[in-house]
Formats: sequence, C-alpha cells, structure tokens
Amino acid sequence: MKTVFLGAPGAGKGTQAKRFAQAQGIAHISTGDMLRAAVASGSALGLQAKKIMDDGQLVPDKLIVELIEERTQQADCRRGYILDGFPRTVEQAEALAVMLERRKESLDSVVLFDLAEEEVLRRLAYRRTVESRSDDSEETQLKRQRIYQEQTAPLIQYYRDQGVLKVVDAAGTIDQVYSALEQAFAAQGR
Ligand code: AP5
Ligand code: MG
Repeated sequence: MKTVFLGAPGAGKGTQAKRFAQAQGIAHISTGDMLRAAVASGSALGLQAKKIMDDGQLVPDKLIVELIEERTQQADCRRGYILDGFPRTVEQAEALAVMLERRKESLDSVVLFDLAEEEVLRRLAYRRTVESRSDDSEETQLKRQRIYQEQTAPLIQYYRDQGVLKVVDAAGTIDQVYSALEQAFAAQGR
C-alpha cells in the first residue's frame, strides 16, 4: 500500500501515521522527521534546512524530492509506505507522480486529516508544553498554517480530481480518529 497523509501542520498526521504504518507493516516516511534528524546530525542538508524550518518556510522542492526518491527505495518500503508531510506543493506532487510512473507504481490513496484551524492551533499550543521543536513558537506555527493554506491545500482538489482522496474527520480523540482511518480503508476494500 502506498498512501499519502495530508493535512494542516498539527492536524495529527504523524500521530496516526506511526500507528497505522506499524499495524500494516509498512514504512512511515515523515519528511519533517527526516529533516529534524538531518539537523540533529549536523549534516550539510541539516544546516541548510534548519534556518528554513525555524522560519516556518518550506525546504526547496528539489531537495525534498531527492530525499523521497532515495528513502522509498529502502528495503522497509517493499511492502508499501505512508508519506507523511510529503507532497506539500503541487510541484512535489507532480514529481512524485513522475517517480511512481517511472517505477510502474501508483498511489492507492491520499488521506486528508480534516481539522478546523482553531483546533489545530489548540493542539500545537499543547505540543509546545510537552515537546521542544524549534519551529513550534506561536509565531512560526501561525506562519506554517498560512503556508499550508497557500501551497499545500491546493493538493486537496488535485487529488480529489484524481479520485484518490479520502477525508477523515480528525477532530475526535486519537483512538476515534484512528477508527475513522481504518474505516476509510476498509470501505475501499484495499
Ligand atoms: P513536519 O514535521 O511535516 O510538520 P507539519 O506538517 O508542519 O506537521 P506537524 O508534525 O507539526 O503536525 P502533525 O500533523 O504531524 O501532527 P502531530 O501528530 O504532531 O514539517 C516541519 C517542517 O519541515 C516544515 O515546516 C518544513 O519547513 C519542512 N518540511 C517537511 N516536509 C516538507 C516538504 N515536503 N516540503 C518542504 N518542506 C518540508 O499532532 C500535533 C499535536 O497534537 C501533538 O502534540 C499530538 O500529540 C496532538 N494530537 C494528535 N492527535 C490528537 C487528537 N486526536 N486529539 C488531541 N491531540 C492530538
Ligand atoms: Mg508531523
């Protein structure tokens, strides 16, 4: 299974992806986690990414696409993967389509985690108290929401037009959202 988890920063993609990937025995690929690991290791990529991330901006498409090209060829991706936080621009979505076509593969689905911005901001305010992400200041969080609306939200229509979009109500508890996610896949019969 190859699927994309789409949704605003803070909608709960990472929380759900971790659990769903484990249950399905597929890889969880979070570009945000990969970039944070690069920052922590002090690699050239990390140094380039840190400033951009702390400013709430998107890292250049080319760089992210290269990361995904490489990561999806690793052994743990053979049974499939969840892309969490990628694609985030139409350009990235197009690059993903080209990559999959070249490999004679395709996406099974794209899951949109649908959550009102008010609740997203409430969850992120909470996360500030329990995690220490350097891009979690209130100002950067707001900027990330703006960039999501401008650059990522157009992907909702993009994937709806392709007939692969599933919408999951992300407003419940973690367990409720997980059940909704399972139902969305069961309905498709995979
Ligand atoms: P990334 O790490 O992808 O961050 P994001 O998309 O902004 O999303 P978050 O990780 O903040 O939220 P989430 O939806 O995963 O929610 P979570 O599960 O944590 O990206 C970071 C940066 O990297 C970007 O700004 C950009 O600079 C760069 N980047 C990454 N990918 C890129 C790309 N493709 N192109 C260019 N640049 C890229 O949940 C949020 C909080 O809510 C948590 O505290 C969680 O415990 C809690 N929570 C979750 N579910 C529930 C629930 N049901 N009820 C109550 N609380 C909940
Ligand atoms: Mg995340």
